[in-house]
Amino acid sequence: MDAKDWDERYAATDLVWSAEPNRFVAELVSPLTPGTAIDIAAGEGRNAIWLAQQGWTVTATDYSSVAVDRMRARAQAVLGEDAGRVTPLVADATVAAPGGPAAYDLALFCYLQLPPAEWRAALRQGVEAVRPGGHVLAIGHSARNLTEGWGGPSAREVLYDPDEVVDAVDGLPVEAEHADIRVRPVETEDGPREALDTVVMLRRT
Ligand SMILES: C[S@@+](CC[C@H](N)C(=O)[O-])C[C@H]1O[C@@H](n2cnc3c(N)ncnc32)[C@H](O)[C@@H]1O
Repeated sequence: MDAKDWDERYAATDLVWSAEPNRFVAELVSPLTPGTAIDIAAGEGRNAIWLAQQGWTVTATDYSSVAVDRMRARAQAVLGEDAGRVTPLVADATVAAPGGPAAYDLALFCYLQLPPAEWRAALRQGVEAVRPGGHVLAIGHSARNLTEGWGGPSAREVLYDPDEVVDAVDGLPVEAEHADIRVRPVETEDGPREALDTVVMLRRT
């Protein structure tokens, strides 16, 4: 899918994703001291808005302008006078992040689904955007969903297991603090299911 496809998907539905933050974002970011964060491919801003509620100052980017407009409206509605804690911007994840190198304490990727070369480029930009001691949190659909789990894209090339994410940052100034597959319970029309998510927390060295 390109930015136009995502624009059309967002325009077709009031809220494509849930309003709640991803459970692993909440779990892994809660122990961190709030600072500056960039939420890359932030969609409708559920995680960016939650980060702002925890005291983070957030730049939230997406290449879909429809998503960014919605994120801005949702931040205003949810955060009110604190809406300025989220700065929504149209930006491509595979090029240098707004703010410049080492500008952030946290870079978040939550279900950014790109083929390998673009995914590596996006990870490299995310690492570059974080200052030493900061974190890069990458969450995505595990390839194991194709056989054992539920949901997510059916194209293997945009699915990553933890070792593949760690391999993609080989040579970059990061060390892995966690690299796991986690179970995410999902309620579906056919009853409860379990999605398998890749959750990788990197610390910038
Ligand atoms: C599955 S959604 C996830 C949205 C959000 N992170 C969340 O968890 O709710 C994937 C998002 O990635 C965005 N995206 C895909 N490729 C991108 C790229 N190269 N640069 C910026 N955004 C991109 C899409 O527009 C879409 O909003």
